[in-house]
Amino acid sequence: MNILNLIESRYSTKKYDTEKEIPESKIEDLKEILRLTPSSINIQPWKFTFVQNAEVKTKLAAASLHNEEKINQAKLLVVFSVADDLDAFQKVVDSEYVPALRDWYNNMKATMPEADLRTWLAKQMYIALGFGMTASISLGLDSTPMEGIEAEKYVDILGMKTYKPVLAMAVGYGADDDYNRPEVRPKSRRSPEDVIEHI
Ligand SMILES: Cc1cc2nc3c(=O)[nH]c(=O)nc-3n(C[C@H](O)[C@H](O)[C@H](O)COP(=O)(O)O)c2cc1C
Repeated sequence: MNILNLIESRYSTKKYDTEKEIPESKIEDLKEILRLTPSSINIQPWKFTFVQNAEVKTKLAAASLHNEEKINQAKLLVVFSVADDLDAFQKVVDSEYVPALRDWYNNMKATMPEADLRTWLAKQMYIALGFGMTASISLGLDSTPMEGIEAEKYVDILGMKTYKPVLAMAVGYGADDDYNRPEVRPKSRRSPEDVIEHI
């Protein structure tokens, strides 16, 4: 399938097949693809938590508002967390990053209000989500992007200290009777004339 056909076929899965397991090789590919996500100045402010453990996944599902059922059904939940403790993240920047990147980040940090810096860091997570959704369908997997999670509860359940969840993505195989499949519920998007300009 070419990339356009893949994108036409992906959809936010609302009901998963609870039996079909995801091959481990696909999960490993997904990990590597997320790690390769590009970000502004290559800042990489993230942690991707792959949750396959059923017990932990059930707890996270209960802290996920209207997303509980699909998280319980899906075989994998990926949690996308952003650096929250900026002092701890500074240590990463100072020890792991090349001088040009470190200097650029330090300059931004020195000149931007902290709230703006945090917003900029959080924006990078959405690039990873886009990569994650596209990668999933390329690997023959279905997925659900989710902002509907209770971040503070996730922090407690996952024992996070320096990162904070922004988004999550359920991954698995969509149930045959998922009402949101594009063949049942055709994609709803604004028209090309409204959203594309050509000059
Ligand atoms: C950033 C983001 C957050 C979303 N959060 C949720 C969510 O919490 N639960 C859910 O069921 N769908 C969620 N969605 C799915 C959107 O509603 C969906 O992408 C949109 O309606 C287009 O439909 P499609 O993905 O099936 O093409 C989210 C999508 C994005 C991109």
